[in-house]
Amino acid sequence: MGPDALRTAGITQMIREMGHSVVDLGNMTPDIYDTDPTARDGIHMLRENIGWTRRLCEVAEQQMGQGFPIFMGGDHALSAGSVSGVARYAVSQNRPLFVLWLDAHSDFHTPKTSSSGNLHGTPVAYITGQAGFEDYPPLRAVVPPEQVGMIGLRSVDPAEKQALQALSISIADMRLIDEFGIKTPLVRFLERVGAANGLLHVSLDVDFLDPSIAPAVGTTVPGGATTREAHLVMELLSDSGLMTSIDLVELNPFLDERGRTAQLMVDLLASGLGRRVFDRNTRPFM
Ligand code: ARG
Ligand code: MN
Ligand code: MN
Ligand code: MN
Repeated sequence: MGPDALRTAGITQMIREMGHSVVDLGNMTPDIYDTDPTARDGIHMLRENIGWTRRLCEVAEQQMGQGFPIFMGGDHALSAGSVSGVARYAVSQNRPLFVLWLDAHSDFHTPKTSSSGNLHGTPVAYITGQAGFEDYPPLRAVVPPEQVGMIGLRSVDPAEKQALQALSISIADMRLIDEFGIKTPLVRFLERVGAANGLLHVSLDVDFLDPSIAPAVGTTVPGGATTREAHLVMELLSDSGLMTSIDLVELNPFLDERGRTAQLMVDLLASGLGRRVFDRNTRPFM
């Protein structure tokens, strides 16, 4: 439903109006998966997600060579596939892949530590090569934790926190954003991407945004990014010229109000692709 809501909100026309051509590959289907219901270990849709990961990984690797892929979800579990495929492409280009995770959550569980059994809480652990994903397709290209940045965190489970504390993922939780503004951690991260001549995959979870502006997600957490902070993030990403692929995930149109969340996601992507009120050098005051 998420991709169709984004289409209804005009994502394709918006991208065309920004001067780009668009190929909509349509809704994907997973690779074949084991349907044995006894093989599930208390994790929801484990086998299905393995099938999805395999398919999306292939498609992502392939599409990276064709343009700027936009992966529309769907659940954040899809990033296990999109990011692992983008990471393969980065290896083929001999360039490091950086991942910017815009989310209320760290999504750093493994199927072994998850208490909810929801795989949307696990993709960052998978793509950074943590143990506990033995049933998953083996990663051909791991994203080193030093190349992952998380912005917007305000709900991290104890097992995730413990695992994260042992690694060098860059984390900007909401407290840091309140103190220093959202631009500070983002610019620092982008400087590292630029200095390393890296590719940059951005993974935008709807719940990065405050629920008052983006109600259409199952895992709302109060105190999220404002409309203005979120646009600024996307504008700075566009200014940097570094972003090479993006996930738009967790949109659940059943929970939306008159399409406002879908519309906001499309508008944020527009800022990420370069839409501006005015160009900076035409602004009178600065
Ligand atoms: N940490 C919680 C869990 O494992 C919430 C994860 C929410 N993630 C998301 N992509 N919505 O279930
Ligand atoms: Mn989800
Ligand atoms: Mn998420
Ligand atoms: Mn989330």
